[in-house]
Amino acid sequence: MQALNYYPISLDEIKAKVAKKFKRNGAQKLEDNEPLDNVKEIVNEFGEKIIRVDGEIPVDLPINNEDRFLFISYDQSSLTHGLHKYPAKFFPELPRWLIKRYSKEGDLIIDPFSGSATTNIEALLAKRHSVGIDVSPFSRFIAKVKVTPLDKTELEICKNKILRLLVNYHPEKVSVDDIPSFPYRDNWFNREIILELAYIKNCIENLDTNEDVKDFLKVCFSSIIRSVSNADDNCTRTVIRKKLNKVVNPSDALRKFAEAVLTNIPKMIDFSRLCPNNINVTFPENMDARNIKYKKETFDLALTSPPYANAVDYPRTHQLETYWLGFAQGSLTPLKKKQVGTESVSAKDYKELHLIGVKEADEVITKIYNKDPRRAYIAYKYLKDMQKNLEEVYKVLKFNARYIIVVGNNRIRGEVFENWKYIIALAEKVGFKLENYFASEIIKHFIKVPREERIDTDWILVLTKRG
Ligand SMILES: C[S@@+](CC[C@H](N)C(=O)[O-])C[C@H]1O[C@@H](n2cnc3c(N)ncnc32)[C@H](O)[C@@H]1O
Repeated sequence: MQALNYYPISLDEIKAKVAKKFKRNGAQKLEDNEPLDNVKEIVNEFGEKIIRVDGEIPVDLPINNEDRFLFISYDQSSLTHGLHKYPAKFFPELPRWLIKRYSKEGDLIIDPFSGSATTNIEALLAKRHSVGIDVSPFSRFIAKVKVTPLDKTELEICKNKILRLLVNYHPEKVSVDDIPSFPYRDNWFNREIILELAYIKNCIENLDTNEDVKDFLKVCFSSIIRSVSNADDNCTRTVIRKKLNKVVNPSDALRKFAEAVLTNIPKMIDFSRLCPNNINVTFPENMDARNIKYKKETFDLALTSPPYANAVDYPRTHQLETYWLGFAQGSLTPLKKKQVGTESVSAKDYKELHLIGVKEADEVITKIYNKDPRRAYIAYKYLKDMQKNLEEVYKVLKFNARYIIVVGNNRIRGEVFENWKYIIALAEKVGFKLENYFASEIIKHFIKVPREERIDTDWILVLTKRG
């Protein structure tokens, strides 16, 4: 084997860096907690009236149809919410508010597209039982770790053990048998990093502790993988962009993992302290948002943010983490095919135009079909899958219970695809009644461009199951 660069890491430097980060965030928290009057009406630069809410959303916040809200979140990475990045993740204040507004302690809540479990964490902290369904084994793994409280003393012991192992790293300690093999591995990662990652994973697996603590450490491990790969850190797709000239140095994986452990253990300790006993959270395997195997009328509330058509390719986003954690070895196609919104479709499916039976949606699907039959089929299939999901959720909800869906729009081949409107129409066909709908605006501050490019709007649809 060729000689490898190897730089020992300094724990003191890493600890000082993490302490500085905590100090900065702590100071911000105090200021953030100050304003009590946190709901204000403002007019944006496009002349639109917006209700701005800073931090916690009051449970009884008045809502009228088509109101526009600007929710400013201060909680994105508190407790276990911040253990791992996840595309299109809820900001915690939103499910916290909706759960308190539309359910009570002891109720049972379902999130049929649970992703990284923001709904389930908030349900748990608010003493509601919950179920999270996600077809991705990687997502279910992160989700389970984020809702599982751990013992503080055990965490502290493991922290010291693992940090000592990191300091004692040497490339020669790594056995090739511990290195997973997966497509294009040596393009995604530098050789030094591959060895460091294999070493860290092996250290976690051989640690003398319980499986829950090991899983927590694996999530810390997973959280640094993209940043030490050669792929762009800030893109939902996993891609190497030569022009970014990303530099990854030897020992970056060791250093970043140590940082993740030091940052995440206090978050896990805080979460575990606040976590109530006797509240169940389940992430069942072999379930799908289109096939929810629970009895009729089981749930008191459903709350979710589904994927969008033709938007985030979740298996591709998490491919490196999925390979390192051992949830896949080769092709990602079987995982992709299970996703609502998937682009993995066969040519025979889009030979003909498929329509969903909702006038506005069908007009857009037809326009897309004239430019790109494949994309038209992807859009159609997305709505068909969402219709199936609406039917399934309708079945498992109790009468008068609500299904709250947070969904935005996107563009497909230049055509605006107004997901939220089509989902309302499909929900009404299934038997739901639209109680109200309102918007949550996400404003990108950094660019001067037209409104539709500066503001992303998520629509919050409150649907009620009527008999
Ligand atoms: C927008 S994300 C949810 C994010 C989540 N609200 C959070 O805060 O982390 C959508 C999720 O739907 C999942 N998904 C896609 N197709 C699915 C299906 N057929 N059944 C269940 N989950 C699915 C994806 O894996 C992804 O995790």
